[in-house]
Amino acid sequence: MMPRYLISFDTDTLPSLECDVLVAGSGVAGLSTALMLSRFCNVMLVTKSDLQVSTTRVAQGGIAAVIDEHDSKQSHVSDTLVAGAGLCDPEATAVLVDEGPARVLELLERYNAEFDCTDGKLDLSKEGGHSRARVVHAKGDATGLEVETALGKALSKDPRVKVMEHGFLVDVLLEDGACRGAIVADRKRKTLMTVWSKATVLALGGMGEAYLVTTNPPVCTGDGVALAFRAGARVSDVEFVQFHPTALHIPEEPKFLISEALRGDGAYLVDVEGERIMVGHHPLAELAPRDIVVARMVEVMKEQQVNHLYLDVRHMDPERAKRRFPTIYDHCLQAGIDMTRRRIPVSPAAHYMSGGVVTDLWGQTDIPRLYACGEVACTGVHGANRLASNSLLEGLVFARRIGAHIEEWMDGRPTGPGKACAFSRKAEKSMVSGDLLRGNLREVMLDHVGMVRSERSLREARDFLVQNIEVLDADYLDADGMELKNMFTLSCLITTAAMKRRESRGCHRRRDFPDPDDWNWRKHIDMRMVAGELKVETRPQPSKPPWELKLPKLQEA
Ligand code: SIN
Repeated sequence: MMPRYLISFDTDTLPSLECDVLVAGSGVAGLSTALMLSRFCNVMLVTKSDLQVSTTRVAQGGIAAVIDEHDSKQSHVSDTLVAGAGLCDPEATAVLVDEGPARVLELLERYNAEFDCTDGKLDLSKEGGHSRARVVHAKGDATGLEVETALGKALSKDPRVKVMEHGFLVDVLLEDGACRGAIVADRKRKTLMTVWSKATVLALGGMGEAYLVTTNPPVCTGDGVALAFRAGARVSDVEFVQFHPTALHIPEEPKFLISEALRGDGAYLVDVEGERIMVGHHPLAELAPRDIVVARMVEVMKEQQVNHLYLDVRHMDPERAKRRFPTIYDHCLQAGIDMTRRRIPVSPAAHYMSGGVVTDLWGQTDIPRLYACGEVACTGVHGANRLASNSLLEGLVFARRIGAHIEEWMDGRPTGPGKACAFSRKAEKSMVSGDLLRGNLREVMLDHVGMVRSERSLREARDFLVQNIEVLDADYLDADGMELKNMFTLSCLITTAAMKRRESRGCHRRRDFPDPDDWNWRKHIDMRMVAGELKVETRPQPSKPPWELKLPKLQEA
């Protein structure tokens, strides 16, 4: 039996606030949704660390969009579908690609973002899985930082958005089946409060922290998916955890992303002897889709009994490399590696969850008035494996749609408090310290539910989760403990789906089922909590190609 709420509370005794819309998260999805909504209503934006901490901020590569006159939407759609390995939602993919260029323009014109240009034209780079150069970037390899800065500036001047930093969204509250706000923990004051709202938007990012090695900042503990699941929302495709092939490999150091754009610019992926490992393995060589590059890396590392490979940029013009990739160059230099003279040690690290909380084309989850945007959402655009630089794009496109949808029904009436709600549990002491369990969990997830899985490895992970399931009943009152429970919940969902999917597809690789099995598995695995129990179902993939669909159009303001 899984508890509905993370902690005990009673809204009658908690201080409360009211807003029209509660937005949780401060990456591209949270900031742009808040800015969209503030055009017509009051917003409270809650973020669990400083406003500036998010995965968006460390995103390097860029935003994929059809901007070049020689490019085509059909080509971007088709690259997205190929990377997604047969499980992209055709409608959502068409929406993403169709509305992408307008969102990039909005960043430039409305929010004054500065993207790299030559002679007044946007510079476009190429990344893995793209058949054309279509990735917009800023300050070489600091695209996420530029997007966050531009949106953050606009937000700081917006009187209709109230920001609460260090606010941890514990659980959403439902009334007659619809979302009416949330319980929020103030991490600094160590207090709880109720935030009543007419709508709530989850933009809480990913779950990379559930793995021992990740490119994500430590705040990415899967909170959004876990809390939506507890509330009864459907989550899907969570077994598709994407590993980025090239994180800087320095033992004991947090993994620093080495952008795929470096390979797009000509860097080689080589073994210790300097042999290019992708040549002869995929027609796009180093620019094959990520899952294929990672699978090949795992194979070579196993064969050669090493734990990392190398990126080699020494054949490239050193001045251009420094200019085009200043963040990477500086970071490597601080780690004692001048990348223009020495090879960069790299290994794969957990990077992105392609699945999440299922949403429709307007960001609505199954629970009325609960929306999800960005990595926490499963809009369907990523299928079994996300195409590089489609994630900032997804955040921008669907934030705009969520704003348009809420504007349709939002009225000027005061929010008012919702029905009182209380939950109390017998406080059970956890047998294990939270820190120890967090470390063990991250190791188990990497070793047994990582880049390559098997029935045997997944059973080991499942046994570990079953042995420690009591953590879900422990009354950890601090946010670290709540994060641990969320990571644990996500790990249970990922492991369950990975065991069920008896094939290899996209970024889900099974040693014991090495091939895709379209006949049995061109399906999504949906999970939801019903009366405290996990219910797992499969859902066939829709088959119409995107260009045959009639899409609900967004009215551009
Ligand atoms: C990268 O720059 O390689 C990461 C981009 C992405 O994950 O989309």
